[in-house]
Amino acid sequence: MGDQAKFSVGGKDVDCAVMKGSVGPDVIDIRKLYGQTGMFTFDPGFTSTASCESALTFIDGEEGVLLHRGYPIGQLAEQSSFMEVCYLLLNGELPSKDELEQFDYTISRHTMVHEQLATFYRGFRRDAHPMAIMCGVVGALSAFYHDSTDIADPLQRRIASHRLIAKMPTIAAMAYKYSIGQPFLYPDNSLSYTGNFLRMTFGVPAEEYEVLPAVEKAMDRIFILHADHEQNASTSTVRLAGSSGANPFACIAAGIACLWGPAHGGANEAALEMLREIGTPDRIPHYIERAKDKDDPFRLMGFGHRVYKNYDPRATVMQSTVREVFDAMKVTDPLFETALRLEEIALNDPYFIEKKLFPNVDFYSGIILSAIGFPTTMFTVLFALARTVGWVAQWNEMISDPGQKIGRPRQLYTGPVQRDYVPVDQR
Ligand code: ACO
Repeated sequence: MGDQAKFSVGGKDVDCAVMKGSVGPDVIDIRKLYGQTGMFTFDPGFTSTASCESALTFIDGEEGVLLHRGYPIGQLAEQSSFMEVCYLLLNGELPSKDELEQFDYTISRHTMVHEQLATFYRGFRRDAHPMAIMCGVVGALSAFYHDSTDIADPLQRRIASHRLIAKMPTIAAMAYKYSIGQPFLYPDNSLSYTGNFLRMTFGVPAEEYEVLPAVEKAMDRIFILHADHEQNASTSTVRLAGSSGANPFACIAAGIACLWGPAHGGANEAALEMLREIGTPDRIPHYIERAKDKDDPFRLMGFGHRVYKNYDPRATVMQSTVREVFDAMKVTDPLFETALRLEEIALNDPYFIEKKLFPNVDFYSGIILSAIGFPTTMFTVLFALARTVGWVAQWNEMISDPGQKIGRPRQLYTGPVQRDYVPVDQR
């Protein structure tokens, strides 16, 4: 018998098995706790709760480590491609050269969207936030691709996964084009996944679009950095939605809705807006004081993380990518200096040191995306595009698990106890 956690509560001795992963903290299996004691555990923000078993992504927040299927994010970001990382997350191993070519080919054959979907866009206001459009359009895919919504069929699940990964750049680019009043561009499958996305976003039908290799590489790297991140809020949302048997398009739409919030994926938009508001380095101390003031709701956006209590390894890669993009595009942005100085000041301030608040992936991404030409409203859309593979891989992992159950937390009820209904004329 393995390790047991033994404790006594309400006069009852409880024995819970301690489960061990391949690496990371052990977990106490409390599934029988309610049956044995009549008590639930209380953990509203899931700060001490492992919601599932997963073999996809590992994070050591204290050490600033992020591994996908065992491979460190730094190595993947420097040496791999987004397509390869997609294959890795979906299949568990890096592909051979032939497998990668075949996967790339398969994804490229799913890049077009149903022509009728274009009319769906026209129902939105032109000034709609592109994330609002993403929530609607991705959910609507379930109305267009009926032949890949049977979650009990592994082949349909695979096709839905490929469709989602392949169509997301097209859908995201269309959301952008719609907002600026330009015509939609069809995908060009002679380009790479990322090159194709850049062309559909920034190209126009009247001209040839030249994909800048350095920008394509930087964008591909940004996609890799966002591909998956363990059981974060949006991934947990996808899993919870999927646990009821909902179709994959509906589940990913739920993930997109969750990602939109400023405490999650919306932080990249908020971080750049904050840097713009701060402006020059001389104004940083005022904002540092505001971030520390308990009575001020202001927080340093792009700082802090539920899991990382060290430098987010994705932020390190992101910071070096800023310089590469600036060099390739022969541009610069004074906000980068402001961001570097803000990081330096914060990392030397006792408040941020004590609370272990470090830059996260969103702190530098906005500067790069803005240099490439994206408006801030598109930042979270890009995050959703890249995270789709993680959502899909996690959803597949969950559905393939024979012990999978509907996610159904319980609660600590604090409302009125039972009382009798009083007719309205007697109240
Ligand atoms: N600026 C100032 N203070 C902060 C910040 C910040 N960015 N982040 C956390 N703190 C403080 C809190 O006020 C709190 O202080 P207290 O203990 O005195 O009350 C303490 O640090 C712990 O913060 P919590 O909010 O309890 O930590 P939690 O794990 O719940 O939140 C979160 C993590 C949401 C990311 C938080 O750090 C935050 O709001 N950061 C800014 C938004 C952001 O960058 N989000 C992106 C996350 S990464 C991603 O989703 C891709």
